[in-house]
Amino acid sequence: MSSLSPSPRVVLDGIPAYVPKPPQPPATGVSHRLFLNENPYPPLPSALATISRAASQTNLYPGIFPEQLTDALARKLDVPLSHVVTGPGSVGIYQQLGQAMLSPGDEVVYAWPSFEAFPIVVRMAGAVPVEVPLTDELHDLEAMAAAITPRTSMVLLCEPNNPTGTAVGAAELKRFLDRVPGHVLVVLDEAYFEFCQGPDAPDGVELHRDRPNLVVLRTFSKAYGLAGLRVGYGVAHPEIAEALRKCAVPCGVSRIAEQAALAALDAESELFDQVDRITAERERLREALGRQGWSIPPGATNFLWMPLGDDSDRVAAALERRGLLVRNFSGDGLRITVGRPEANDLLIETLKGLTSVR
Ligand SMILES: Cc1ncc(COP(=O)(O)O)c(C=O)c1O
Repeated sequence: MSSLSPSPRVVLDGIPAYVPKPPQPPATGVSHRLFLNENPYPPLPSALATISRAASQTNLYPGIFPEQLTDALARKLDVPLSHVVTGPGSVGIYQQLGQAMLSPGDEVVYAWPSFEAFPIVVRMAGAVPVEVPLTDELHDLEAMAAAITPRTSMVLLCEPNNPTGTAVGAAELKRFLDRVPGHVLVVLDEAYFEFCQGPDAPDGVELHRDRPNLVVLRTFSKAYGLAGLRVGYGVAHPEIAEALRKCAVPCGVSRIAEQAALAALDAESELFDQVDRITAERERLREALGRQGWSIPPGATNFLWMPLGDDSDRVAAALERRGLLVRNFSGDGLRITVGRPEANDLLIETLKGLTSVR
């Protein structure tokens, strides 16, 4: 046998590796998952009934594309069917974007810190990340526009931003989009759209209507509470949408996910009551922690950002000891998902005992 061995693409060297590990024993005691921006409430009874009906058909493949869901989304958003793309979560659509729209050496402009998938999607395609630091935890749209060069083929924009939760207003976003050259694709990730509903909140689907270089991504994972079923969608003009569909994994959205998403769309008013509860809890947390002296930027999502810098490890460890599992961006800050009231009470109580050292 030859001593040569197959080698993965060199670009994968720049991508964090997942190292398989044996399953961990279940944690003892109560713990609160506040690290993935999940909806803390279980699916609504109507969605659960739909899920169990769809489960009885798991011997069958789903459609190559989820046609019922695509149709329902097109009607809800008032866009032609040809503008809707779906995927196994919006991260699935990011992979389609990388395959369909990026070539080695292309530059991709995005803010940092922002959604952790950005550098992975870009590097995976052999494209070049151009990271523009946030200013005061906000997108610096002026600097992002200035970072666009003739080699730029894509701009990634997470609005509101993960992990800071901050949002730029509709007018500022429009001004930025108007400055982006038509050949540069702008991907506007609105994973937290439903939590960001002020009078100045942008609506990417409206913005896309007269902007053929804009793709909007949304998900059923956050407000709709279906993270475990993996279903997200995008809205784009037909040429881009068709390219994305060509790169989709066939049958990538399961029948259970499709049916649950349809049930969630039908139960929107109940879900939006939940969104209101989560938003009210977010503001309660922000005010309580602000009174304790913690600095927390105003957010428009289902999480809070604590810019703790070097203090983030100490605070994350103290929270973990009380069963509060948050996302530690070591050296930068903590991203804390808004949980159920009892988890939020525990968070307020625990942080009260810790003094900010910044
Ligand atoms: C900005 C952003 N986009 C996309 C996602 C992933 O969504 P999905 O579950 O649809 O893949 C997340 C999840 O945390 C997110 O924060």
